[in-house]
Amino acid sequence: MQVSWKTLLEEIRNCTLCPLHEGRTQSVPGEGSPNAEIVFIGEGPGAEEDRLGRPFVGAAGKLLDQVLEALFIRREDVYIANIVKCRPPGNRVPQDEEANACLPYLRAQVALIKPKIIVCLGAIPAKYIIGPEIRITQDRGKWVERKGFLIMPTFHPAALLRDPRKKADLWEDFKQVRDMLARMH
Ligand code: URA
Repeated sequence: MQVSWKTLLEEIRNCTLCPLHEGRTQSVPGEGSPNAEIVFIGEGPGAEEDRLGRPFVGAAGKLLDQVLEALFIRREDVYIANIVKCRPPGNRVPQDEEANACLPYLRAQVALIKPKIIVCLGAIPAKYIIGPEIRITQDRGKWVERKGFLIMPTFHPAALLRDPRKKADLWEDFKQVRDMLARMH
């Protein structure tokens, strides 16, 4: 049976399934349109996200906003979430147990939204959404189909902050997403 958004968001807000809840200011369920055709999935909340309870509002989020804007994709028309809903200490990578505890929430969100396209922002979401065999530098930009969803693995916007040469690749991947969606209409 499918849960309602209200129940799901309440569960995420009060979740204690993994130790990450101990360090959070608040959980970050995700935000955007419940009818989104594209869902973007990041790794986990950082300091700003933990403070505000919203995904991708720090430096990486500003970059994501810029790319979306340049492609005329409105942030309020898509849905943005993360593999884990609570901030890992010091922004470390989420551990398998944490990701696995949290993944049913993301699956429930995707089941409610029923997007056409899922974009994995970086190696961590690609690992959990597509599979551990994914190598982000080799496999980015290549469509994968899983359970009726078209999935695009690409770089995490934060990777661009560290290495601006990745910008052209991320841009190409996002353009592919925009063009694919246009073709699906
Ligand atoms: N990085 C992520 O992966 N998610 C966020 O929400 C913010 C930064």
